[in-house]
Amino acid sequence: MRILVIGNGAREHALAYSLSLDPQVTEVHVSPGNAGMSAVATLHPQSDPVDLAKDIQADLVVIGPEIPLVAGVADELRAAGFAVFGPSAQAAQIEGSKKFAKDVMERAGVKTARALPVSMGASDSEIDAALEQFGPHYVVKDDGLAGGKGVVVTDDYSQAREHIAAVHESGNPVLLESFLDGPEVSLFCLVDGETVVPLLPAQDHKRVGNDDQGPNTGGMGAYTPLPWLPEDGTQRIVDEVVRPVAKQMVEDGVPFNGLLYAGLAWGEQGISVVEFNCRFGDPETQAVLELLETPLGGVLNAVATGTLAELEPLQWKDGYALTVVLAAEGYPESPITGTPITGADPGSESRGVRAAGVKAAEDGSGLVSAGGRVVNVVATGATLEQAREAAYDELKDITLPGGHFRTDIALPAVRGAISVDA
Ligand code: GLY
Repeated sequence: MRILVIGNGAREHALAYSLSLDPQVTEVHVSPGNAGMSAVATLHPQSDPVDLAKDIQADLVVIGPEIPLVAGVADELRAAGFAVFGPSAQAAQIEGSKKFAKDVMERAGVKTARALPVSMGASDSEIDAALEQFGPHYVVKDDGLAGGKGVVVTDDYSQAREHIAAVHESGNPVLLESFLDGPEVSLFCLVDGETVVPLLPAQDHKRVGNDDQGPNTGGMGAYTPLPWLPEDGTQRIVDEVVRPVAKQMVEDGVPFNGLLYAGLAWGEQGISVVEFNCRFGDPETQAVLELLETPLGGVLNAVATGTLAELEPLQWKDGYALTVVLAAEGYPESPITGTPITGADPGSESRGVRAAGVKAAEDGSGLVSAGGRVVNVVATGATLEQAREAAYDELKDITLPGGHFRTDIALPAVRGAISVDA
């Protein structure tokens, strides 16, 4: 099987790496990719996806990020006759339009935060009146595609107002939401119409600093599975959230085919949806795929060809996997690029380095930073604590002057400090 992966981050590196281990996969191509993943894939910078899929005679195209999905790249590829892992533009609205997602959830009877749009033309007094409905925890969301960075959760009224002004200034509408209590869970599900197959549950760490301090980011680290989740937790999320939404989308004539990512809060209110995404999450994917025993190419192909219901149950390795993000100086506000990175060579695949914002130095001397989240390390262990130690050991060998990372990924879970009301 020749597979083309679209995207350029650590998530796509993890997908390409896992696909390269599948004995049924003969070639892995990534477009545009990044210089850090050249050991596992042939890179095709700046290519039109349909032309490229034709050139390399792809048997399967896997679309990583939400932007091409929302823009309809999966539809174009399907129209050209390719098997595609990724939803149509219409179904990708589950991430692309918060109104679409809220409407589907309401009709499917799925719990989610109450939301109120704040239009661009809203006056100061209208904004004040809207905020008054939600305090003291304000959740202010950029209602466009913001790569996970568009949400501010704050108890500070002026910070909430500032974020509303900043989002409006960027040309996007704002959504105010009620605050959902409880630990967050990311559950990725393979979805083919009404067939839903969950992967292992994971938890992301979205704030930039230890103890969940500082602004939100695209995600600074993740671990899987979740030792604090009730034994039937994954099944309950599928039954209460993902299957009803998948069924509703089929009934609405917008069937979902690809990876449906349920971002949830499991608090006193029960299981509630924070957001849906129409693709694999980053950085959770880097950890989740590390434990998948079933060869990935066959799994994604089953979804793409509408045969997920016939797939054997997924096999998982025992133990835990954990990933830590090394970010550039200034991330998330204004990351500094062009900084040399050492110890993260593309040739060292077995080391568990997944490259995100990197490019080749112009003088050929190695890799330099080219984005906010620069590289991930990923490691496994028989216990979560061992996976943590292994990942942080791996990170010691990588240098990125001015770079920063969280030192507490999965620490609350290791300390037994997370629980849910089952
Ligand atoms: N982990 C957050 C996201 O992928 O959106």
